[in-house]
Amino acid sequence: MSDDMLRAPAEVKFADELDWLESIDDGPKPFSWRLSPRMVRLFILGSERSDGLEREIPQKWFGDRSFVERSIVTLASDRGLLLIGDPGTGKSWLAELLAAAICRNSTLVVQGTAGTTEDHIKYSWNVSMVIAKGQSRESMIPSPIMTAMERGVIGRFEELTRSTSDVQDALISILSEKYVSIPELDDDNIVFAQPGFSIIATANSRDRGVNDLSSALKRRFNFVRIPVVTSKKSEAEIVRFRTEELLRRHRIELDLPPSLLDILLQSFADLRSAAASATSDDDKLESALSTAEQIGVLEDAILHSHFFGDRVLRAQTLAGSLVGSLARRSPEDLAILNKYWHGVVEPRSKRDGGLWPDFLEGGREAISTLS
Ligand SMILES: Nc1ncnc2c1ncn2[C@@H]1O[C@H](COP(=O)(O)OP(=O)(O)OP(=O)(O)O)[C@@H](O)[C@H]1O
Ligand SMILES: [Mg+2]
Repeated sequence: MSDDMLRAPAEVKFADELDWLESIDDGPKPFSWRLSPRMVRLFILGSERSDGLEREIPQKWFGDRSFVERSIVTLASDRGLLLIGDPGTGKSWLAELLAAAICRNSTLVVQGTAGTTEDHIKYSWNVSMVIAKGQSRESMIPSPIMTAMERGVIGRFEELTRSTSDVQDALISILSEKYVSIPELDDDNIVFAQPGFSIIATANSRDRGVNDLSSALKRRFNFVRIPVVTSKKSEAEIVRFRTEELLRRHRIELDLPPSLLDILLQSFADLRSAAASATSDDDKLESALSTAEQIGVLEDAILHSHFFGDRVLRAQTLAGSLVGSLARRSPEDLAILNKYWHGVVEPRSKRDGGLWPDFLEGGREAISTLS
């Protein structure tokens, strides 16, 4: 089933694993959860030898286990979960994995934008049916959140802070009363949330606005802050995990030299420390330099080599993709990259050799093309 979808949701992609975990799970389950909290954690963080399982469960989200545990505990309480962090820190991915493990449905999602209205989180009407038959439960179109309430599963709200305060207010009533009333109907006009209903929201800490959330709404959510991954080891694991998936998805056979992955990780680490010591925004790349951005750079380089190259990912190509993806503002970002190439890549290439000289050359070319 997952082969004929561009991107299968986690509950489809890992259906086998989830079935198996469910079959061996004898732990206590809150509400109508499909897995116990321990199994949810195991599904997300992967198994270790000490778990003594017959089957190895790979790690899917990388980060401190305390974030995952706190998220799970929140969902077993009657508060919503709000995952906050920089762009690309894996908030949406964690939300998807949690929903997939807990209720096998991660697709009841509302996207928060300035244009999101109350209808998007409550219900709207099928106008032609209303004209033909009048307003009834049949002619009502429930929102994903309302569907989650009726089924007692998890509803997701992406980018909560981008939505207007009207929408946030509507969410307060859903989270505190746990029902939605439909005043247009004379009877059968309240939809109650079934046990197991909860909301996982995400918010980007670079969008101003987390602080603008009303205090009433803040009280109904537990906040879990997800930091940018800075450990090189976990970062390497995330990048490898995603890259393998990418190669499989595009059915690409390509040789990816491990030392090239090191160059990518090293250059991101360098650029991050340069950004940390920058004094003004003009001296700082616009990019958050997140792990997701690294994956983006690698994806670009892989596709480029696949379509225009010769089955090996070359350091020049990687450098070109890195410059191309990170130079968003001209001239500021280009100047920063240029300084990095001169001040860091050049000496390193003289000292360490390996693939660095090719990386140096590729980056220089890309910078001069874009300048
Ligand atoms: N800690 C992590 N573990 C596993 N994968 C990660 C992690 N961080 C980032 N990724 C990968 O990066 C990609 C982007 O992450 P995701 O979309 O979840 O970020 P986000 O925090 O929701 O960003 P945004 O604020 O821009 O929406 C995901 O496909 C995910 O695979
Ligand atoms: Mg997201």
